[in-house]
Amino acid sequence: MQPKNTYILAIESSCDDTACAILENDRVLSNYIANQKIHEEYGGVVPELASRAHQSNIIPVVNEALKQANITKEHLSAIAFTKGPGLMGSLLVGTSFAKSLSLSLNIPLIDVHHMYGHILAHFIENGQEKPSYPFLALTISGGHTQIVQVNSPSDMEVLGTTQDDAVGEAFDKTGKLLGLGYPAGPLVDQLAQKGNKKAFEFPVPKAPELNYSFSGFKTSVLYFLQRETQKDPDFIKNNLEDICASVQHTIIKILFKKLEKAVQQTGIKQVAIGGGVSANSGIRARLTSMQTQGWKTFIPPFEYTTDNAAMIGIAGYFKFLEKDFAGLEVTAAPRIHI
Ligand code: KG4
Ligand code: ZN
Repeated sequence: MQPKNTYILAIESSCDDTACAILENDRVLSNYIANQKIHEEYGGVVPELASRAHQSNIIPVVNEALKQANITKEHLSAIAFTKGPGLMGSLLVGTSFAKSLSLSLNIPLIDVHHMYGHILAHFIENGQEKPSYPFLALTISGGHTQIVQVNSPSDMEVLGTTQDDAVGEAFDKTGKLLGLGYPAGPLVDQLAQKGNKKAFEFPVPKAPELNYSFSGFKTSVLYFLQRETQKDPDFIKNNLEDICASVQHTIIKILFKKLEKAVQQTGIKQVAIGGGVSANSGIRARLTSMQTQGWKTFIPPFEYTTDNAAMIGIAGYFKFLEKDFAGLEVTAAPRIHI
């Protein structure tokens, strides 16, 4: 007999955030994140520094999550952790810690694919309607840009993916060209809200079928800025909001061209977004506007968009219900695909 309530402790350490969450079934009791500020000085995540920071953060972060959930380790039903994709040194910290904890408490261990977490975050209980299967998910983050057909919590099919940079990189790299800090995505978003999106035009890169390409876009912004700053050295300073609005507008155009094509091809009109870039206000507004085309749209709450452990917890909960557990020989996998 399964106990009435399942308590999952989930760990996420795939990149530069050390996160731990406790879930009671599909409800979040705590969702604690330690961000690593150190990378801002370097303008990007330094893998070696990230794994060291995870190592010192992990125990305090897990203790804090337990404290906020107001439960003790003895109540836990299973330990879930991010197996990949991500940075090897970062993943290893979470993987090793999760293994040791499950071994010492003698409870099941559950390995979770990071991108399944971003998608299944939509099923965290928050009083809102949840998608029904099948639905399409646009997963957009610093490492991924994919259109996924979600048939069930364990059956997902990638319909399209980026052939080069992820959309988060497109935001971060163009933001860097504009002299914005790291990660630039949220800053571009803020500035874009005050600018004119039609001020400048950038080409939409070509990619076959439902795939994406962003490296050409970044290069076209680079050449544009070089050209304009030769004429006016203060061009960026004087036009920052309009440049951000135009960059963001083009990125949204690129994303939705293929997403609309995917809806047409599959006939599936339930569309969800997930991943850090789904925090973007312009992308959220554009998705919501598609409701006039008969789409049913799903946007996760902010706290479950950028990397967090609650999303790993809900994905772990689905695997727990299926008794889909990992053995202690499980290893971190930096490059696994859906
Ligand atoms: O999912 P996530 O937290 O980490 C990865 O798995 O990569 O995504 C991080 C990415 C970064 O590129 C960051 O700039 C971007 O999400 N991001 C945004 C916004 N908030 C975060 N990009 C555009 N607009 C935002 N509001
Ligand atoms: Zn992520």
